[in-house]
Amino acid sequence: MTAPTAHRAGLCADRVVAVTGAGRGLGRAHALAFAAEGARVVVNDLGVGPDGGGGSGGPAREVVEEIVAAGGEAVVHGGDITTAEGAASLVATALDAFGRLDTLVNNAGFLRDRMLVNLDEDDWDAVMRVHLRGHFLPLKHAAAHWRAETKEGRPPAARVVNTSSGAGLLGSVGQGNYAAAKAGIVALTLVAAAELGRYGVHVNALAPAARTRMTERTFAEAMAAPGAGEFDAMAPANVSPLVVWLGSAASEGVTGRVFEAEAGRITVMEGWRRGPTDDRGARRSPAEAGETVRRLLADAEEPGRVYGAS
Ligand SMILES: NC(=O)c1ccc[n+]([C@@H]2O[C@H](COP(=O)([O-])OP(=O)(O)OC[C@H]3O[C@@H](n4cnc5c(N)ncnc54)[C@H](O)[C@@H]3O)[C@@H](O)[C@H]2O)c1
Repeated sequence: MTAPTAHRAGLCADRVVAVTGAGRGLGRAHALAFAAEGARVVVNDLGVGPDGGGGSGGPAREVVEEIVAAGGEAVVHGGDITTAEGAASLVATALDAFGRLDTLVNNAGFLRDRMLVNLDEDDWDAVMRVHLRGHFLPLKHAAAHWRAETKEGRPPAARVVNTSSGAGLLGSVGQGNYAAAKAGIVALTLVAAAELGRYGVHVNALAPAARTRMTERTFAEAMAAPGAGEFDAMAPANVSPLVVWLGSAASEGVTGRVFEAEAGRITVMEGWRRGPTDDRGARRSPAEAGETVRRLLADAEEPGRVYGAS
């Protein structure tokens, strides 16, 4: 559904943006924020339940209607981005509806939280699939399009924003599957940024926090809505301005980075780097390795606390 506008203005006025999982929560906020900056938006969502079950076209449709009612342009994509067909048709939908694709926001996902000893293989596979594969396939298909554009002499200012999580950066008790997938998304982001820069593609990742159905019960206190007139710190829309900027041509030169974003805060995450080191130029015995490790740890920074750890 589109309602062509005579004049487009904003940071993304000339851009076409695809957002996965844009029917609800953060993805919906991102889609609305991109549209408010003039982007034409492909709204992908399967409308699944909080654990990935079921499905409905309603949420994606409603977001498109909201964008169109506000004078913007958007179309629904109801394909499953964890399949090659779904990822390919996401890109094809942008090209068919709007003639181009400039920005991909990988955001779709759900949770199956369990302590590791109770975590079924199915819950492991489903969460790895929606987050990690659900990032990889749209990224791959979009990147193939942008590489072809470059080879045709039309180098893009393409942008990918991936969605990690504090769980993937620091770990989170009861979320072994989710944390592993979200950590994988960070590594995928670093590789994609390094590989795709030559095709004009910038790739960054985000660890957001906001009040959505994913968090409103588990973190009820932290996510609570404020009193009337106060800043609604945990509104998903507070995360979206960073995503819109990263997804715009204005973010030229910013790639391979990980940001935390919540409320009014944006933080550059500084990840793994070499700390205290001892290289003796020869093999150690296990006992010697232990002595070295104890000495190095005494000089090393403490790791950040795993979420939910006592
Ligand atoms: N809310 C937070 O505080 C928070 C924190 C860290 C990370 N995240 C991440 O942000 C992203 C958005 O989460 P949210 O909090 O908005 O949750 P949400 O449940 O409100 O929204 C997720 C959306 O993804 C859709 N979805 C799920 N599987 C899909 C699939 N295969 N294809 C298409 N759509 C699919 C759902 O239907 C839903 O509309 C997720 O990747 C989540 O892990 C959220």
